[in-house]
Amino acid sequence: MHMASTQTLSHLHTVAQEQLEPCFVYDLDALRTHLNTLMDQDVVTLWYAVKANPLSAIVRTLAECGFRFDVASSGELQQVLAQEVPAQQVLNTGPAKSRRQIKQFIELGVRTFVAESLNQVRWLNEAALEHDVQLKLLLRVQLRWPKGEKNPLGGDSLTPFGLDPQHWHGLYLADYPALQCIGVHIFQWGNMLSADKLLSLWQQMLPPLQALSEKLGFAMQVLDLGGGLGVPYDEHSEPLAWQDVLNALAQIKQQSGVQELWMELGRYAVAECGYYLNPVVEQKENYGEQQLIVSGGINHLLRPAVAGQAFPCRLLRESHAPLQAFNIHGPLCTALDSLGTHNLPLDINEDDWLVFSQTGAYGFTESMPFFLCHPLAAEYVIDNEQLHLLRESASPSSYLR
Ligand SMILES: Cc1ncc(COP(=O)(O)O)c(C=O)c1O
Repeated sequence: MHMASTQTLSHLHTVAQEQLEPCFVYDLDALRTHLNTLMDQDVVTLWYAVKANPLSAIVRTLAECGFRFDVASSGELQQVLAQEVPAQQVLNTGPAKSRRQIKQFIELGVRTFVAESLNQVRWLNEAALEHDVQLKLLLRVQLRWPKGEKNPLGGDSLTPFGLDPQHWHGLYLADYPALQCIGVHIFQWGNMLSADKLLSLWQQMLPPLQALSEKLGFAMQVLDLGGGLGVPYDEHSEPLAWQDVLNALAQIKQQSGVQELWMELGRYAVAECGYYLNPVVEQKENYGEQQLIVSGGINHLLRPAVAGQAFPCRLLRESHAPLQAFNIHGPLCTALDSLGTHNLPLDINEDDWLVFSQTGAYGFTESMPFFLCHPLAAEYVIDNEQLHLLRESASPSSYLR
């Protein structure tokens, strides 16, 4: 499991002394160091997928490090603009772009869009003509493999993200004078920890994407490969080395002949900077199994229930007691409220706190905080070695009517 620095650990202890309820802590100093490494190259243009963590201080740190921003809703756009990111550095992806939303984005200055349907292309063109602006357009492609052929993606489920090449083939770009089609977007994999596997996937996707650009008669200047770079959630998995990803991307850039590769990173950019601190309520034995009941569960961290993958977990204090497998359960009245099975010291008790790591991505905003009327989690940042409370824990009376 990723280990916090001594300095960060000492801040986590301070938070545990200050707080009674679960809370998130984001280490912006570690985030900055990581992002500077990601930016120190000229192979790929990096955008940040704001859905991973829209916290103001996180967005500002990404902006300071030179990231651009991929937003998927009006709320995300407003949050990014409120951090003084220029609208020209925003890209809009997402399957649910209503006419109203498209207009609003254009009015707020966004000029780069990933179209996920023929209607979106039409609405983008109409709104651009109405506002007398030109937009840059990428077509989002969804590929499937014929039955019986080995599918490089593993599964073959249909999603609402993008459109199959057959439907895109029916697009006549000359009908949309306000749109300049600069490339394609494809993203159909998740949490990948192997650069070789990514390379092989991307290579298999190139021919149908190139065929599409030829058929529609636009030059593929940009290839946007979405996100999906993984982080390890268990001690057996190795982190994905950035240099290996860059080598794979350089190969794709050369093979595809595109001028620019883009990626919109979520998890790989921010997961590691986040910690979720969670007080233990009690330990009990049930039918021979050790159970730990904790204050916060999927009300604050939904991902284990939807992705079937727990966040790594350790005890905050040091203990030399033997390790034991504990099933960890949150406070909700559903068996879905499980934060996984973890090896933890046997002497764990109701005065202890657990620390879940990799929670900088898909944590606070990917949760179900209102169920059973628990407090909302507080959010802290560590910035220039100082601890700051950005959001107080909010009591249920603040959101119940
Ligand atoms: C269009 C798009 N780009 C990028 C991402 C970020 O993915 P990840 O967090 O795996 O990097 C997502 C996540 O859902 C997405 O929908």
